[in-house]
Amino acid sequence: LRLILVGYGNVGKSFHNLLDQKREMLRRVHGLTPKVVAVVDKGGAAIDPRGLRYDAVSRVKHRSGTVSAMPGAGRSGAKASDIIGDVDSEAMVELTPSNLRDGEPGMTHIIEAMRSGKHVITANKGPLALALPALDELALHNGVRLLFSGTVGGGTPFISLIRRSMRGNEVVSLRGILNGTTNFVLSSMERNRSTLEDALSDAKRLGYAEADSSLDVNGLDAAAKLAILTNVTFGRKITVSDVAVEGIGSIDQGAILRASERKTPIRLVAEASPEVMGVAPREVSADDPLCVYGPLNAMCLAMEGGWQVSVVGKGAGGLETAQAVLRDLVELRESLSSPGQAPGSPVESLYG
Ligand code: HSE
Repeated sequence: LRLILVGYGNVGKSFHNLLDQKREMLRRVHGLTPKVVAVVDKGGAAIDPRGLRYDAVSRVKHRSGTVSAMPGAGRSGAKASDIIGDVDSEAMVELTPSNLRDGEPGMTHIIEAMRSGKHVITANKGPLALALPALDELALHNGVRLLFSGTVGGGTPFISLIRRSMRGNEVVSLRGILNGTTNFVLSSMERNRSTLEDALSDAKRLGYAEADSSLDVNGLDAAAKLAILTNVTFGRKITVSDVAVEGIGSIDQGAILRASERKTPIRLVAEASPEVMGVAPREVSADDPLCVYGPLNAMCLAMEGGWQVSVVGKGAGGLETAQAVLRDLVELRESLSSPGQAPGSPVESLYG
């Protein structure tokens, strides 16, 4: 399976490294022999139809700041659009930073890849939070898969749990802690009495925060993830602008400590049900599955019939998100080898 890797930051490098480390297991267990035939970053691209290895590409990236300095394979100034259209491959993995204003540059990369008949795997929240219904339709139209389990929950399989493991079960409502940075900040303010600013700079240093960390603090990152989950869970065609958002920027430390003493710590809760669609700071009971600490995420599904399903796991970090991208790759490989799922044949829509 030949891959074009677009975006070579924290997640992109971790994913490439993971592919090389897990090469033998992927072949033996999943019959998967992925080959990275092009890597694209802001400075250009490296292309090699025989496959690019992580050690070589990351060394060049570290030394020169761009993969395009790779001897023999480098194409300085090459644009992602040219590479996506021109380099032969079955799939593109899109891992550029999320942009919640217009989804770019990921939006264009994803559209171009699907139009040129390539399957897409992405952990980029922007395009999906802004246009998942339209992108799903484009994938269907072009007979390609659009896989995005790394967009919500980091490495914790929220999306694949709902899409794969709970088919036939009806979810009535969902609640989640969908942003690792704000959960880390609220936990530090509560347990270590840190200020918001200090806790946020720790979250940045640890690689949890967005490049623009105001998206974490103002709740938009969680709202984007809630929009994606709502499409997946309920088949409701919504975007991030349909979500009511309140962040944690104006929370005062006294309120956090008082809530903690009452054993109802404050968390940034995302909620979707037929009546509610929003993200806001809320007190949650200490024995609620949503009451997680540090950069953890949690999702709690209320099922028809009154039972509940909860999942907890680390929701941010390059390696964790790269694991989700790898899962999507295994899923793509499996769907390509099942009848009716060959490239160009009709693919399953999110909306039934
Ligand atoms: N900034 C995000 C978070 C990264 O803190 O959850 C993972 O999407």
